[in-house]
Amino acid sequence: MEDVLMDTRRRGGNAAADVVESGMDVGLGTGSTTAWAIAAIGWKLNTGELENVRGVATSLQSHELAKEVDIPLVNLDEITTLDVAIDGADQYNPYAPHVVKGGGASHAREKVIDTAAERLVIATDENKAADPLDHPIPLSVLPESRTVAKQWVMDQGGEPSLRYAETKDGPLFTANGNLILDCDFGNIDEPVERAEALARIPGAQEHGLFVDLVDKIYIGIEDEVE
Ligand code: A5P
Repeated sequence: MEDVLMDTRRRGGNAAADVVESGMDVGLGTGSTTAWAIAAIGWKLNTGELENVRGVATSLQSHELAKEVDIPLVNLDEITTLDVAIDGADQYNPYAPHVVKGGGASHAREKVIDTAAERLVIATDENKAADPLDHPIPLSVLPESRTVAKQWVMDQGGEPSLRYAETKDGPLFTANGNLILDCDFGNIDEPVERAEALARIPGAQEHGLFVDLVDKIYIGIEDEVE
């Protein structure tokens, strides 16, 4: 099963990489599925199938992977728009342009880059499909504001849980020094309203509900978002 899943993610990543054309500036997402897309872009540059492509990384992970495959990189503060961004998802709605992201704690930088892109394509696998979305939404918060933020999430009907690091005792800190509350709201029936409510929480830095951003979803085969 794991091999099939990895193969689906590989095919999804490779399919997503096909949207990249020579001369493009590309947002390079984070996660195991997008890693395949980054590798595919690097390969195409190496073979000459692509030329003059520049990448903007959404995380240290995607930055290091892009360097490994020789994708020329530019810093986020050097761009205002991108031709396309390729990114992963923790959950997607096959019938609407919304996804939940942040499983890898990179959603703050991802949202800047994915929003700056003319097009956002998501490379994922069909196990992450849900209509409506119901995945807990990551919310990065200033560390000192976590108690206030937890109360706001509960007042909004959610169940917040502080994300702990897998490799050490204690909470996980993001690359920006924030903490993450994974907020379970059950079914996310009104994604736009939920996103607006999360943005109102004092101390909230960014949340992982990406609404109205997705152009196409690649799950091993191309699949248009309705
Ligand atoms: C990173 O913060 C996330 O948004 C990832 O893009 C998401 O967790 C998907 O990662 P996988 O493709 O590894 O499942």
